[in-house]
Amino acid sequence: MKLTWLGHSCILLEGSRIVLIDPFVPELSIPCKPDIVAVTHAHADHLGSTLELGVKTVAMNDLAYYLKEKGLEIEPMNIGGTIQVDGVTFTMTAAVHSSWIEDAGIGVYGGVAAGYLITLDGVTVYHAGDTALFGDMRLIGEIYNPDIALLPIGGRYTMGPREAMMAAEFVGAPVVIPIHYNTSPKIAQDAGEFKRVIERTTDLKVVVLKPGESYVTA
Ligand code: NI
Ligand code: MN
Repeated sequence: MKLTWLGHSCILLEGSRIVLIDPFVPELSIPCKPDIVAVTHAHADHLGSTLELGVKTVAMNDLAYYLKEKGLEIEPMNIGGTIQVDGVTFTMTAAVHSSWIEDAGIGVYGGVAAGYLITLDGVTVYHAGDTALFGDMRLIGEIYNPDIALLPIGGRYTMGPREAMMAAEFVGAPVVIPIHYNTSPKIAQDAGEFKRVIERTTDLKVVVLKPGESYVTA
């Protein structure tokens, strides 16, 4: 399975299926048509080009029905639930964050923000979405044993590096990939320092990608 960071929170998973998470891509273009899009929450920097992509979309129930209204084929779910879509497993997890749909000027309620565990070809990826640190990340680690954790480190709107270091320990995935940073000066962070501290103090490995770069699982 190949995981590509397309920038910000956008992750492309390529294996027997192509899954695209949070298709907001500020610098690059989306290199292929996904089979399935999964959206963590309604904010524009996550919903991105979901409507334009026009493929089967996994989302929080309340957001999913908004997307259905706009013409998308949806797979609605809610926190704690697990579904199979074309052989790919999605579990929706909590995230401590807000969520609104920003297409009406001021925005409308978009359900709550979430994260996902996605299992494709036997590899489980935890995409935390936008979130603060929360103690139940330990449970996510215990129950689902993710192979890779995608954690926001930008600060201001989500946890920053300090909290994300603890999140990485709570989740316990052997590979941690930082996301949601350096998209703008407001979320500028030093991912190299994040990597150095985690790798000095734990057995976890941090993979710092540049937008467009991939990590391939063994
Ligand atoms: Ni957000
Ligand atoms: Mn965001």
